[in-house]
Amino acid sequence: MPTAPATEGSVSSPITRFGLGTAAVGRPGYITLGRDLDLPAERTVAALRERTHALLDAAHAAGVRYFDTARSYGRAEEFVAEWLAARPEAAAESVVGSKWGYTYTADWQASGVPVHEVKEHSATVFDRQVQETRALLGPHLDVYLVHSVTPDSPALTDPALHARLAALAGQGVRVGLSTSGPAQARTIRAALAVTVGGRPLFSAVQATWNLLETSAAPALAEAHAAGWLVVVKEGMANGRLADRNATGPDTAALRALAARTGATCDALALAAAAAQPWAGIVLSGAATLEQLTSNLAAAGLGLAPEELAGLAALAEPAETYWRTRTGLPWA
Ligand SMILES: NC(=O)c1ccc[n+]([C@@H]2O[C@H](COP(=O)([O-])OP(=O)(O)OC[C@H]3O[C@@H](n4cnc5c(N)ncnc54)[C@H](OP(=O)(O)O)[C@@H]3O)[C@@H](O)[C@H]2O)c1
Repeated sequence: MPTAPATEGSVSSPITRFGLGTAAVGRPGYITLGRDLDLPAERTVAALRERTHALLDAAHAAGVRYFDTARSYGRAEEFVAEWLAARPEAAAESVVGSKWGYTYTADWQASGVPVHEVKEHSATVFDRQVQETRALLGPHLDVYLVHSVTPDSPALTDPALHARLAALAGQGVRVGLSTSGPAQARTIRAALAVTVGGRPLFSAVQATWNLLETSAAPALAEAHAAGWLVVVKEGMANGRLADRNATGPDTAALRALAARTGATCDALALAAAAAQPWAGIVLSGAATLEQLTSNLAAAGLGLAPEELAGLAALAEPAETYWRTRTGLPWA
């Protein structure tokens, strides 16, 4: 099983601490903030395929080795699979994670769709989606996560599902979950307690942690201590921490640090995530090559403890953060 890069002890972050997520480029509609500015005018399958492949090429050339996708990101799994097939040397040194549990229902529409994705964490959906994922990613599937688990998910309690996930783990796939919502910490702790045959089932988590929403950190530290791979998603708060959006009083400390250091707000936000001692991989969700370059500059930023302490002022109550996040429109 591929392993994630070592994470211990480093505040300045080498590039292998960073991964590339494909949520913004695998389908025309998503919730990040500047899609009209950043995606091709015509969001055709061909245009988004080309964009995804260009981002994967650039990320790999920069040294990124972790790539994240999901069944529900439109055609993202397919785009990643095509790239892996065309770049066998890159494929051999890459770790690929995907997710199951949401079914994409937007039919390549960006907006105006009643439901973009349908969530169901059942054994039936797992059986269908793991086959779909395997058909595309084949042996490149290294990490497979239940998508967006909350405390009420059957993924935490269903023995039939657990048996299937244990069987997949037995094939060398690292099995885990991603988490969403204000109860991420409770979800992670419940997942840490799940066993099959007396052995822990899960060994990976992808969770939201960013300067505005830090509530999962103690549970993520426990997951890291238990030997789990910990992946940070939404490190830019869906774009809220990018320079063009971080303009309000809530992000003043970030802007001040950017002004003092000459770094961009997005690179500082991702560097702050990478500085968390439990963070194995921090995802960039870049939609353009320029964003990717700017995001990956985080790898060269060593944040001092007093700088991290200053940025702690940005944190919001989790309920506030997730209310805002739920209100972001698909576009
Ligand atoms: N439940 C889950 O499992 C889950 C949920 C969410 C995400 N994820 C994973 O995590 C990855 C990252 O999450 P995310 O994309 O939702 O959130 P994010 O990383 O917080 O935000 C990424 C967005 O920020 C904006 N951005 C980034 N750099 C910028 C820059 N320099 N200047 C201006 N804007 C910039 C871009 O949006 P615009 O171009 O639109 O402005 C970009 O798409 C995803 O790709 C996915 O793989 C998983």
